[in-house]
This record gives sequence, structure tokens and C-alpha cells, in this order.
Amino acid sequence: MPGSFEEVYAQSLNDPESFWAQAAEDVHWYKKWDKVLDDSRRPFYRWFTGGVVNSCYNALDLHVENGRADQPALIYDSPVTGTVKTFTYRELLDQVARFSGVLADQGVEKGDRVIIYMPMVPEAVIAMLACARIGAIHSVVFGGFAANELATRIDDSKPKLIVSASCGIEGNRIVSYKPLLDKAIEIAATKPGRCIVLQRPQEQASMIAGRDLDWSELMASAEPVDCVPVAATDPLYILYTSGTTGIPKGVVRDNGGHLVALKWSMKNIYGVDPGEVYWAASDVGWIVGHSYIVYAPLFSGCTTVLYEGKPVGTPDPGAFWRVISQHGVSVLFTAPTGIRALKREDPNGEFIRKYDLSRFRTLFLAGERVDPDTLVWAQEQINAPVIDHWWQTESGWPIGSNCIGIEMYPVKPGSCTKAVPGYDVRVLDDNGKEVANNQIGNIVVKLPLPPGCLPTLWNNDAGYQESYLDAYPGHYVTADAGYKDEDGYLWIMGRTDDIINVAGHRLSTGGMEEVLSSHPNVAECAVVGVADEIKGEIPLGFAVLKAGAAPADDLIVQELVQMVREEIGAFASFKVATIVKRLPKTRSGKILRGTMKNIADGVEYRIPATIDDPLVLDEIAQALITLGYPR
Ligand code: COA
Ligand code: AMP
Repeated sequence: MPGSFEEVYAQSLNDPESFWAQAAEDVHWYKKWDKVLDDSRRPFYRWFTGGVVNSCYNALDLHVENGRADQPALIYDSPVTGTVKTFTYRELLDQVARFSGVLADQGVEKGDRVIIYMPMVPEAVIAMLACARIGAIHSVVFGGFAANELATRIDDSKPKLIVSASCGIEGNRIVSYKPLLDKAIEIAATKPGRCIVLQRPQEQASMIAGRDLDWSELMASAEPVDCVPVAATDPLYILYTSGTTGIPKGVVRDNGGHLVALKWSMKNIYGVDPGEVYWAASDVGWIVGHSYIVYAPLFSGCTTVLYEGKPVGTPDPGAFWRVISQHGVSVLFTAPTGIRALKREDPNGEFIRKYDLSRFRTLFLAGERVDPDTLVWAQEQINAPVIDHWWQTESGWPIGSNCIGIEMYPVKPGSCTKAVPGYDVRVLDDNGKEVANNQIGNIVVKLPLPPGCLPTLWNNDAGYQESYLDAYPGHYVTADAGYKDEDGYLWIMGRTDDIINVAGHRLSTGGMEEVLSSHPNVAECAVVGVADEIKGEIPLGFAVLKAGAAPADDLIVQELVQMVREEIGAFASFKVATIVKRLPKTRSGKILRGTMKNIADGVEYRIPATIDDPLVLDEIAQALITLGYPR
């Protein structure tokens, strides 16, 4: 799309239908849409109604037919197993079509849900695309989630089948997945009929006869099946994300809008052409993995990298630069936390200079706020643009970015640059009135959201409206706070709800509080996110005990830490908690979590006028000092 950024942006808002219809010409349709933007059921907008597509066809078959059959589609690079394996588009298509055959043999049909609970192995990508191929709806659950979280997702999505693996590998630790899967099915009310398990050489899982099937055995005799055409508005996947309670929200993604938006984003936001190597160092269990490990690069005919490792320790802080130079990566997308870890372990960039980065062009960061120091450090070390961009599971692709494929703007460290074409981003005060430049407020997007964004929550239209649309009618609430400056740059400063970002992983402190509250000795509790040098934020727990005899405080704290690990997952990094006599509250009984966070972070704060007893803040400050806060 030619023109300056301002022109493209204006066109996307002034005439969204022709803007997205033009973008949609770039994808394969079995039948074109009747309506580009269907607003007949406001506020539930739908894109490309009447259109018929297949996302897997666009990701694989189309490229094989158009001359990319022998181009690498996916490079699996796994320092933790010492493996590098490349799949061409032809090979990936063959695997996917055969796994679709396996699913079909097991009775999976269009519209059925399939949960994928897997580590970062190519089979996870194959399973996702195989579902898309036959119109089944996948729901990938991040491998770091504990059994309880998996069970919640099983009960909400009611899968016909689950695809899993014997184990994941975290550095040099083997994480057994199968016992977690078995436990989750035991806890869940819904019992999926079949589980397909990939036995990895590092660990053999024990199988339950009559329910569990071996991936390799099934694939050995599988017949490939063809793509099933689906409606553009049919769901492609459900991805659960943290809400304000322990119950996750099932974000739904459709086929048509997602396809159009993601393909458009590769060229216009990331500046990537077909045939280039694009690497998102995330996990397939998160939105970044869905959109930018799997779908967008493959829709665009790029080579995508699936990396099973960490930025540091697998084996050293040169890992990212080794992958970039070995595979000729043009663009890397990762979370700021990874860069902070590199900055700590390789402050002078000695590991960076060991590798040939001549083909590397741009580093994109998202998932949490990037502190200006880290961004500037990265810019200086790699001598390439570092682009902070902002988005959410719900949007599925960037809301705010420097769209370098259209026109690159000067980088202002700490800002994600401007609203992306398609998103009419506004900053409102609590009464819904737009605020002036440089004034912080609630960041919302005026409806309709562009294609690719969530049309609703799984089986929960009312929850969608309540969570995102009710607060400011006509607008989608991002639940982020921030401001626009005089140049129209967006500055995202933090969440307005109780979501925290721990090493780029989205978590609900409310969910953690629910776990702590279930401890028999805990009367009430609070969890707040406090600043962490590497992970951005980490959770910190405060518990008030019930009256009467109780084990020693230290023992209870240990139990609380273990409970969060077992019920949510180790990745929550819940390692610090303290027992206090009282929690600070307003006179109406609301716990002053924000004030507690400020004390822990050593940030200046005002004692709220509505506080019940200001002395409690002193007690909290004292407890924090004992824990070493502020740092
Ligand atoms: N399966 C099982 N366990 C997992 C897991 C997974 N997929 N991912 C993380 N964990 C566990 C880890 O093993 C660790 O366990 P431990 O407490 O026993 O050590 C715990 O969860 C915390 O893991 P992690 O958040 O990875 O922290 P770390 O200290 O091991 O490493 C970083 C620190 C910064 C290197 C790492 O957090 C990192 O690379 N983060 C980037 C994450 C990312 O890409 N997020 C982006 C989403 S867009
Ligand atoms: P997730 O749904 O896991 O992608 O998390 C989305 C949330 O992460 C957003 O609502 C923001 O709070 C935060 N976030 C993501 N990217 C950025 C960014 N570039 N700057 C600031 N916050 C970000």
C-alpha cells in the first residue's frame, strides 16, 4: 500500500471497508465475501461475512502451488536437545495433511475443539495447522501451566481430543507433561475421548489404554486429507488469557479477518517480504507464538524459526545471535525481559560480536513495557532499529507500532510510536471524555475493531460485552493506561486492572489470590506486582492468618509458594510472600493494592483520603523492609 503513514492511517479509518477489501485481495478465498464489514449485530462486528477460506491452505498449500515447495517453511532450533531440523513447505504440508488425517480418523470434525498442550516442538505447529486444515478449533495451552489451569480450559472448551507430549525441556531440566495432563483430565468435568501423545526421546510417558494414542504410530499409517473450506467468520482458535479472576477468558479468533490482518501486518508493520527468515522468540502457547511463530510468517511465505531454548543459559547469552547468524534471520521479535537478561549477562555485547549479523535488520519488542535503558542498550549493541510495539492477546496483532514497512518514524524510547492503521485509539478519562495530549487516561479503541481482533469470547457474548465494551459504549477497553503526546505518539504505562506481566507472561494477581485464599490458615490476602530488574514485574503475596493455632509463618509462606507453583505454574515466579496482621483498606473495605505496590517499589505515594487506618501502611512498609523492599 503506497503513501505516507499518515495517508494510509487516514484511509484505514475513513474507509475501512475499501482499505481491508484491498488487503484481502492478497489472500486465497474459495469464495469472496458478501460484506467486508458486517455491522448488522452491533456491537458484535464481523469481517468478511459470506467469505469462504482455509487458513492452512493459505499458510501451506498456496505456497507449494506457487513455487515455494522447496523453500524452508519452518526451522526447528533446539539447543536444549542439540537439534536443528528444517521443514520445507512441501514437507510441512505433508506432515500437516497427514496429521489432519489422524484427527479425522479419530472423529474430529469442523467446529470440534482440540486442546494442544505441548512444548516448543514442530509437532505443536503441525497440530495447530492440522486443526485449521479440517476446520477444527484449536486451543493451545502454554506448557508451563499446571494441571489445574489446563483443567479449567478443558472444561470451558470441551475438547473432543487433546494433543500433548511426554515432556518439555527447561534448560537442563525435564518437565514431565503427561502426569499433568492425566491430572488435569482427572480434575476436569469434561473427559476428552482421546489423547494423542508425542513420545520424546528424553522421556517415555506411560499411556492409558483405550484413551491414549502414540503420535508416531498414528502418523506412520496416516493418509493425508485436503483442506475443508470454512466461513471467514468461523473460529480458527480459542486462546485463553488471564482475566481479572482465576477464570481465564477464551479469546476467539476467526479465520478470514485474522488471515487478512496478519498477512498485511508482516509487510506493513514488520517490513518483511516473502522468502525472508522471521523469528519470534516466544512460545506457541502465547499470542505472539500463535500470530508470529505460526500464522503470519507462513501466510506470508516466509521461513519461521521455532526455538526451544532461552536467551541465556542455552548455553550462553550468544544463543539469539547464533540463531540469527546461522539461519539468516532478518527480523527478531521477542519480549523485553529476554533483552534485559542479555544486558545483564553480556553488558558489553561480547557475545553479539562473535556472530555475523549482516542479514539482520530489525528487533521488535512487545509483551510488556520496555524500559528506555534496555531499548537504547539493544540499539547500540546491535546497531539496528529496535521497535517497541504494543498489543494484546485480544487484538492478536499490534495496536501501536512504528509501521516500518510503510514509513519509519523516529524512535522515542518508552513509546510504542503510533496507533496502527485500522485502530482508532483514544485516551479517555473515567467519565469517557477524551483527555488532552500528555494526560494519562484509559486507552480505548473506537469500534469497530479492525479485522483479526477478537469478535467475542468463547460461548460468552455477555462476558465479552461486560469485560470490554460496557465501560465506554462504542469503544473497546484495552485495560491499559497511558497517553498520547503532542506528536501523536502513544505511551503505554501499565494496566488498569490486576493483570501483571511476569517475564512477558500475562498473569492475574486475582487468580493468585484465589490460590492463597484456599490455604486453610489464610483469612485474607493480597498479591501485587512489584518491579523486577529482569522479569519486569514479579508477584509478591501478603497473607493475614485466621485466628487460632497455625503453623509457623515461614512454613505457611513455603506452602503458599508451592501452591501457586502447583496450581498455576512455575512461570508465575511467585516466590516471595509474607504474613501480616492486617491489610490496608479503604473505609469501604477495598484493599489498597496500588499503595502497597508503591511502597514495595519505593515510589512516592499519597495516603488515600479514604484509608481506614493509615498505621497499617507502616506495618506493610516494615514487612517489606524485612523482605528487602524497596530494592
Ligand atoms: N514449561 C514448564 N515450565 C516452565 C515453562 C514451560 N514452558 N516456562 C517457564 N517454566 C518455568 C521455568 O522452568 C522456571 O522454573 P523454576 O522456578 O523451577 O526455575 C519458571 O517457570 C520461571 O521461568 P522463566 O520465566 O522462563 O524464568 P527464568 O528465570 O528461567 O528465565 C528469562 C528468565 C528472562 C531468561 C526468561 O524468563 C525468558 O526468556 N523470558 C522470555 C519469555 C518470553 O518470551 N515471553 C514472551 C511471551 S511474548
Ligand atoms: P498479552 O495479552 O499477554 O499479550 O498481554 C497484553 C498486555 O501486555 C497489554 O495489555 C499491556 O499491558 C502489556 N504490553 C504488551 N506490549 C506492551 C508494550 N509494548 N508496552 C507496554 N505494555 C505492553
